[in-house]
Amino acid sequence: MPSPELRVQWARLDGLSARELHAALQLRSAVFVVEQNCVYHDVDDYDLQCWHLLAWSGDQLAAYLRVTDPGSKYPEPSLGRVLTAPAFRGQGLGQLLLTEALQRCAQTWPGQPNRISAQHYLLKFYQGFGFAPVSEVYQEDEIPHVEMLRPAA
Ligand SMILES: CC(C)(COP(=O)(O)OP(=O)(O)OC[C@H]1O[C@@H](n2cnc3c(N)ncnc32)[C@H](O)[C@@H]1OP(=O)(O)O)[C@@H](O)C(=O)NCCC(=O)NCCS
Repeated sequence: MPSPELRVQWARLDGLSARELHAALQLRSAVFVVEQNCVYHDVDDYDLQCWHLLAWSGDQLAAYLRVTDPGSKYPEPSLGRVLTAPAFRGQGLGQLLLTEALQRCAQTWPGQPNRISAQHYLLKFYQGFGFAPVSEVYQEDEIPHVEMLRPAA
């Protein structure tokens, strides 16, 4: 990630300290459960095997996403739980996080497309990274979603 103030961490679950994992799960529940007013199982078994991408500003977790391996959630590597902490929004961090994640995917699984289940209100955001919708809009945990695919670079 280009910003010198940000430290990026790309790790499997066992590569995170207890405090780092706590920060990630705390922020995920603050955004996806509380802010989005959605009762759902945010912590799931994908957390055990996926890659976690954390962007730190000092000791504050500023942005987070996870990537499930090909053949896990989808046949393709899949980005999920994409978030920027409320205090850091609107500063381009989401853009940086996605760019970093797609680079990591290309390094880890060369030649593989990426599939996501995107919240529909962010369709244009993801289209900006080369994702195209491949499904009708559907409800997931009562939030409108659309499946999107990004061809291999
Ligand atoms: C979506 C999210 C990650 C964007 O993070 P961010 O750091 O504020 O994003 P950026 O500053 O990099 O903005 C990038 C682009 O995102 C889009 N965007 C950001 N927030 C948006 C919103 N609320 N609605 C629609 N588009 C939005 C815009 O197109 C923006 O481009 P712009 O510069 O032309 O405005 C952040 O708003 C968030 O955490 N939302 C809650 C969690 C969520 O819904 N995650 C997505 C799950 S699929």
